[in-house]
Amino acid sequence: MEKKLVPDYIENLEVYQAGKPIDELARERGLTRITKLASNENPLGPSPFAIKEMTNALWDVHRYPDMFAHELKSALSSLYNLKPQNIILGNGSEGIMGYIVRAFLQPGEEVVTSENTFIGFLILAKSVGANLIQVPRRSDYKYDVEAMAKKINENTKVVYIANPDNPTGTYITKEEFDFLMKYVPKHTIVILDEAYFEFAQSQWDYPDSMNYRYDNVITLRTFSKAYGISGVRCGYGFGHDYLIGNLHKVKLPFEPGLIAQKGALGALKDYPHLVRTIQNNTEQFQELFSYLNSHGFKTIPSVTNFITIKTGSEEASLYLYNQLLNHGVIIRPLRANLMPDHVRISIGTKDEMLHFYEAMNQVLPGYLEKYGALR
Ligand SMILES: Cc1ncc(COP(=O)(O)O)c(C=O)c1O
Repeated sequence: MEKKLVPDYIENLEVYQAGKPIDELARERGLTRITKLASNENPLGPSPFAIKEMTNALWDVHRYPDMFAHELKSALSSLYNLKPQNIILGNGSEGIMGYIVRAFLQPGEEVVTSENTFIGFLILAKSVGANLIQVPRRSDYKYDVEAMAKKINENTKVVYIANPDNPTGTYITKEEFDFLMKYVPKHTIVILDEAYFEFAQSQWDYPDSMNYRYDNVITLRTFSKAYGISGVRCGYGFGHDYLIGNLHKVKLPFEPGLIAQKGALGALKDYPHLVRTIQNNTEQFQELFSYLNSHGFKTIPSVTNFITIKTGSEEASLYLYNQLLNHGVIIRPLRANLMPDHVRISIGTKDEMLHFYEAMNQVLPGYLEKYGALR
């Protein structure tokens, strides 16, 4: 058989689609007032501490950064009461997912996860030729852990759980996590992707992975969401020395870069900024939830910094998305997540949400006439 230049599993991949950047919309439509509610970022911006650390670090960018990121690992060690050898850093938590698939997944091995979950991981798993087993969700949009447990077998190398999940905002409970772990063999790695941990941790039945000590679980967290520095790319992972040690063997040595390491250190120092971030999220979340429900949208219960709604069809989703773009508001249609009849709205500041409500009030009459409310 003829040898191929590019393997089928790469050729068949689709490039990740990010939320529309503000500059792009400004260029396309000549708009000046733009609100981006499309990528679950921190609307308050970075902490001034992070900005100061990053600005100071600019003078040192002719040097490679500390490949062991001693300072940042020490700060994380104290915060979580862990040893530095249990910590890995990367270019965002997605960077660490890249190391995980590179180190542990081989072509043909199976990854068990839920349908419509975080696309970034699904693309990475496919990129090494893994076989994705995506279990359908329950009707309430939650991961179906019972069905997932049934799919775990000898050939399962990774179980991926985004907890809370993106794009639905749902989470698996302590009870569900305990149940699922009973079916996971020792040779299977469980990735607990806790990118939205800071928003979800107050739920009494949320399984904070720091309270568990499984040798085959890797926790991933990030500075991109509640800590507000997604632009410089810094994420972190926790796990057993053996797993973390092996991940370091495939890690690119100078990730994350100097500015990212310093930004993360600054962000960690500013606890009040984190509190303000969560407070803003709680307040604006409640208002958005009420607004959407009172206007007849079916909302998915979320414990994150975004709300996903059912529009009922891809056409309705794209109509809403495009009409809001005309008013300078960017939300996220979910076709790439195979949820084309849904859209996702990130929580913004009070002013940004006012912009969203103003735009919605303009768009809604036309939308409802065409597509009606769902209930
Ligand atoms: C569930 C989940 N995991 C990981 C990420 C990626 O985060 P990072 O910026 O740390 O790579 C995201 C970003 O949207 C996410 O939603």
